[in-house]
Amino acid sequence: MENLMKKLKEAKAFIEERTKGMDIYAGLVLGSGLGDLAEDIKDPVIINYKDIPNFPVSTVAGHAGRLVIGELEGRNVLCMQGRFHFYEGYEMDQVVFPIQVMKMLGIQRLILTNAAGCVNKAWNPGTLMLMTDHIKLVPNCPMRGHNEDELGLRFFDMSRAYDPELLEVARREAAKLGIPVKEGVYMFFAGPNFETPAEIRAARVLGADAVGMSTVPEVIAAAHCGLRTLGISCMTNMAAGILDQPLGHTEVLETGLRVKGQFSALIRAIVREF
Ligand code: HPA
Repeated sequence: MENLMKKLKEAKAFIEERTKGMDIYAGLVLGSGLGDLAEDIKDPVIINYKDIPNFPVSTVAGHAGRLVIGELEGRNVLCMQGRFHFYEGYEMDQVVFPIQVMKMLGIQRLILTNAAGCVNKAWNPGTLMLMTDHIKLVPNCPMRGHNEDELGLRFFDMSRAYDPELLEVARREAAKLGIPVKEGVYMFFAGPNFETPAEIRAARVLGADAVGMSTVPEVIAAAHCGLRTLGISCMTNMAAGILDQPLGHTEVLETGLRVKGQFSALIRAIVREF
């Protein structure tokens, strides 16, 4: 993307004008079926993606596609209701543009959530997984090409991309609430097809517990610009080939609906404490 800093500054200025320079502490990206949490934000400033200079334009019908900014659990948060996926046809740099805008806005903590296929056979649909690491064999990387030194280093560390301290907060708050959570590795697939059974067996051999089509580009961009990040996956279905049944998006949405109460409670507790 040419003139990335200029584009980021334009987006930042537009948002700051609407929020009157509000100091925003945390960014939230809510995955499939989990967008309702944004409705709990008090006195929100709502900004449609299509109005923000240089923001990618949403392609999916029914995706809210807006920022909801305001107070949640005593903290100012910016919530992305709807995210950009690589499978929709966006380039990787477009997928992560909002994350870089969050950095420009001075946001200090990021929570990314997603719906994922469960590779780990010892778990069930509905399981919440704290992401401890990821695997990406898809060659595209959002940081490919010209490096903006103002944002981050050309070659940057990924060994703390899933912030150990935020993971500890998440573990503690889950325990306090009595919400069982697992921890594991998320493997990124480009989609939009679900994986084949052979791909899922391969993912398991490689060390994956979950598979999905989002989050990883955003985590890479967050690591690049030094935004401390927590990722939480909701296992919405057993991954392909584990059960003798075809996969569909309906199942993904239904499980999302079933656990969204717990998921929201956990995220709210983390926002309060991290
Ligand atoms: N695979 C990839 N992405 C997903 C899945 C899956 O099985 N379920 C929800 N998102």
